[in-house]
Amino acid sequence: MSQTIQAGSLNARQTYERIAAIYDVLDAPYEIVWKRGLRRRIFEGLGGEILDAGCGTGRNFVAFPDGVKVSGCDASAAMLARARARAENLGLLVELRRCDLTRLDWPDHRFDAIVATFVFACIEDHEQAAALSELRRVCKPDGEIRIVDYRLSPRPLARARQRLMSAWLQGTFAATYTPTTENHFDAAGLEVIDETFIRGDDLKMIRLRPGKAS
Ligand SMILES: C[S@@+](CC[C@H](N)C(=O)[O-])C[C@H]1O[C@@H](n2cnc3c(N)ncnc32)[C@H](O)[C@@H]1O
Repeated sequence: MSQTIQAGSLNARQTYERIAAIYDVLDAPYEIVWKRGLRRRIFEGLGGEILDAGCGTGRNFVAFPDGVKVSGCDASAAMLARARARAENLGLLVELRRCDLTRLDWPDHRFDAIVATFVFACIEDHEQAAALSELRRVCKPDGEIRIVDYRLSPRPLARARQRLMSAWLQGTFAATYTPTTENHFDAAGLEVIDETFIRGDDLKMIRLRPGKAS
């Protein structure tokens, strides 16, 4: 999709520090209507050690498969504080670290799987390759990375609605319907396993594996 919807610079780090206290309320309508149901599907089939990259307030925590060991990271301390409280409430042991996707502080080849939901849409073009390279670095050579984000719908009416919503998406969540993630897979040494629209024609899950060179 060549068309982009962007207005000004995205500054996710500051945005999420600011909105952490109300994030779950702002996102509740989406969470209740469809996100909650999809999260289990996103984690389906994953096992071993998993990284929830850009875990936010920990919305994915209810979807972890049985028996996995999960770590989470986020750039925002305020979002992580909420994730910590959620893990505690759910009785889950999740190792949470404050770190940026462009500079993860785990060693090479640590995780069997990495999941990033609604995160790469918040990462500016010039940082996408660095963030993807870091995911590849901490992923085991036979591991899997799953990235879920919005895309522009090909349907004119749906796309017009997205255009109306894009200012809200960007202003409130520092996110875009047109992340440039796919442009950077080669540079980051990642191979696409498959790409699936998991909700209508505007929410895509991309499954990736480290390329042969890793
Ligand atoms: C829309 S929220 C999604 C949170 C969660 N993954 C979910 O599915 O609800 C985006 C999260 O990505 C985090 N984030 C954005 N850019 C980041 C970066 N470069 N490094 C780490 N976290 C980042 C934000 O702080 C925020 O918590």
